[in-house]
Amino acid sequence: MAEQKSIHGLWRSRWLFILAATGSAVGLGNIWKFPYITGENGGGAFVLVYLACIAIIGIPVMIAEVSLGRMGRQSPINTMQAISKDQKANPFWGSIGWMGALSGFFILSFYSVIAGWALAYVFRMAGGAFDGATPAQAGEIFSGLISNPEVLLAWHTIFMVITIAIVARGVNKGLERAISIMMPLLFLILVVLLGYSMNTDGFAEGFSFLFSFDFSKITGESLMVALGHAFFTLSLGMGAIMAYGAYMPANTSVGKTVLTVAALDTIIALVAGLVIFPVVFSNGMEAAAGPGLLFQTLPVAFSQIPAGTFFGTLFFILVGFAALSSAISLGEPVVAWAVEAKGVSRATAATWLGIIIWLLGIGTVLSFNLWSEYTLFGKTFFDTLDFLTANIMLPLGGLLIAVFVGWKMRSQDVAAEVRMQNPVVYNVWKLILQFIAPLAIAAVLINGLI
Ligand code: PHE
Ligand code: NA
Repeated sequence: MAEQKSIHGLWRSRWLFILAATGSAVGLGNIWKFPYITGENGGGAFVLVYLACIAIIGIPVMIAEVSLGRMGRQSPINTMQAISKDQKANPFWGSIGWMGALSGFFILSFYSVIAGWALAYVFRMAGGAFDGATPAQAGEIFSGLISNPEVLLAWHTIFMVITIAIVARGVNKGLERAISIMMPLLFLILVVLLGYSMNTDGFAEGFSFLFSFDFSKITGESLMVALGHAFFTLSLGMGAIMAYGAYMPANTSVGKTVLTVAALDTIIALVAGLVIFPVVFSNGMEAAAGPGLLFQTLPVAFSQIPAGTFFGTLFFILVGFAALSSAISLGEPVVAWAVEAKGVSRATAATWLGIIIWLLGIGTVLSFNLWSEYTLFGKTFFDTLDFLTANIMLPLGGLLIAVFVGWKMRSQDVAAEVRMQNPVVYNVWKLILQFIAPLAIAAVLINGLI
């Protein structure tokens, strides 16, 4: 395909791409979701499967996604259409971008609600609600929050408005600078907390919960959750990383860049786990507490460390930023598409799409209170969206991308775009896309669904 140009601008350097992609990857998935699904799925063996999925499937698919984005230099929807046409593939392959756009809508709708919990916690923390709180009291404050639909809706609205405002301004302005300060700070607080958790009685138990492998706890569903989370945490399978790849400077190594992002994402998730589980075990709390785990455990930790109110407040502000830098990447693919296809301004596109996503988010708000009894196969509206996107749509998106790049594209075009220097690494990557990733994803999906 002839060299393409992005109408949305480019990242100013390889580092800014890494920063933006890390901003997308590191988010609620690492700090909120990874610990609670690890708790629900029994710990160590689940973590091992998750790490294997990142290394064997996630990283190769991420390289493919970034490369496709950079080749097409448009929104994922148009990039996939343009490349599949150029490669003379069946038009079906051009439609992959659409499924990704739908996944993005669904994910952002609940992501915003959970980010809203973090924002609500900023004020609860700062107001001293958790000073000297026992685990039981922290649990009550959390239940009090999620049982109140008006409050959840207000924070969901605020988070969506901020997200839309940033996406409306385009890729270069504002956020790049904010992320470069916020992300290291978030990591620093996690490390401070790690120092604290290492000195609790529960550290050894927390550590072995995360890293000792009891494979009898692995079920078909937990395999699916681990694989799904590998996609979710790396922002794969729906076009977010493809959209960011479209703004990547041409002369950078995709492989090395992707490895950096994946490593940072994984380290942050593991550190979050190492902070949370010792707190769980030293306070006799429940590892399988579900989505409230982060919000029930960390306030207890903060209530026990010096200047905990200050650190706690700062921590939840930073979680809000981590969520925001992921949320904009969830919105970017559809907004970029609307700008390209409909010729509207970014602001108009972001506003309309934001309103639709905001409306959908109301379903998640109500899942925790008024609608908590309405379930489908035992899953609330929120559970259903979460399951459908992370465990089915993202892996399916990844499978299709792997097959497309592995089988449908001309080999010389793929090689020219990824430009891996080491032929062995390149061949292994190709082999994974052709065989290992599609077969493994298909097996896990089929096994998990029956
Ligand atoms: N990777 C983000 C997180 O871990 C979530 C996300 C998923 C962002 C898909 C973009 C696309 O929180
Ligand atoms: Na992540």
